[in-house]
Amino acid sequence: MRIDMLDPLSRYTALSALTLLAACSSAPPPAAEKSTPKITMNKESWGAAGGRPVDLYTLGNARGMQAKVSTYGAILVSVVAPDRRGQLADVLLGHDTLAGYLGTHPYMGAVVGRYGNRIGKGRFRLNGVEHKLAVNNGANHLHGGINGFDKAVWTAVDEGPQSVALRHVSPDGDEGYPGELDVTVTYTLTDDNDLRIAYVMKATGKDTVANITNHAYFNLTGKGEGEIVDHEIRIDADRFTPVDGGLIPTGELKSVEGTPFDFRKFVRIGERIAAEDDQIRFGKGYDHNFVLNGTPGTLRSTIRVKEPVSGRTLEVLTTEPGVQFYTGNFLDGSVVGKGGKKYLFRNGFCLETQHFPDSPNKKQFPTTTIKAGESRLSTTVFRFAAE
Ligand code: BGC
Repeated sequence: MRIDMLDPLSRYTALSALTLLAACSSAPPPAAEKSTPKITMNKESWGAAGGRPVDLYTLGNARGMQAKVSTYGAILVSVVAPDRRGQLADVLLGHDTLAGYLGTHPYMGAVVGRYGNRIGKGRFRLNGVEHKLAVNNGANHLHGGINGFDKAVWTAVDEGPQSVALRHVSPDGDEGYPGELDVTVTYTLTDDNDLRIAYVMKATGKDTVANITNHAYFNLTGKGEGEIVDHEIRIDADRFTPVDGGLIPTGELKSVEGTPFDFRKFVRIGERIAAEDDQIRFGKGYDHNFVLNGTPGTLRSTIRVKEPVSGRTLEVLTTEPGVQFYTGNFLDGSVVGKGGKKYLFRNGFCLETQHFPDSPNKKQFPTTTIKAGESRLSTTVFRFAAE
């Protein structure tokens, strides 16, 4: 079996075993390997949340990229990536300390679940039974509720210089969801400047629903300020899911043709962000799920973003059927983040790869149900480069 076809944990284990085998072989390493800087594992104590110790992992690669991951919320704290001159800078909004993440913030870098994005009125039926979820966004349920996965202290179950696997077991009834869900998220930073996030969601007891994603806010200038409207984006999606005024999908899969949602060719994010359009009005800009082309379940390249001044680019590959493209329209300066910066309107954008919002109430959408005893895998790769 090919290693890339294994589930993320087995793949990680297989790769570690291969690395160990290579290290034990008596043959001298090839010349190229000799010059590769040694990347050591870096784990530091980062304080405590709810009485539980929190650690911060720094993943590195041979090209100087770095990603920091906290066991609190499985939060991606920073991603340091090179611009076209090789200048490294952090391309994520967030906080310098755990205290910042313990305060109120709009899910910066967090793993959101059990259900990323909204479930209308916080209700759904599964196997004929109605489930009532915590309501935390007007009348609706958002990003897993009041105490979502972003506020859990995850347990590191595997760690290395370029990878960390974090586990969280969400109990039966958590925020109103039926059944226990056992989740592992593995962050891996490869020497190709790929940040790979692999999720394994296992329904251990009962049938349940799940939709887990990462809520990183990117600003590829590396400055963490300024509106992201001059970034250019291409999204390989022929359709999107229009919403009502509460940002709940109407159920329609609408063609992007002739709308401000057509990103099939590179467009400045700001080009049509203020268009006279009800959908734009509802989201105060872009805050919509796009139906990604290609076959869900296969890892495919779906999105590219370019920041013209630094030259930094971001490519997104995913196995998910959709992505929430959110342009930070609700950032209002109330969150003070890294370096004391106030995060203002549109200082960052999110690409939350996902199943569609409100799927448990929309039979026509790809199902988010995981049957008892079964698992769902999901992988997203954020690929960094510069041009
Ligand atoms: C939602 C936005 C929300 C943001 C922060 C996004 O995924 O679609 O409406 O404001 O997350 O919670």
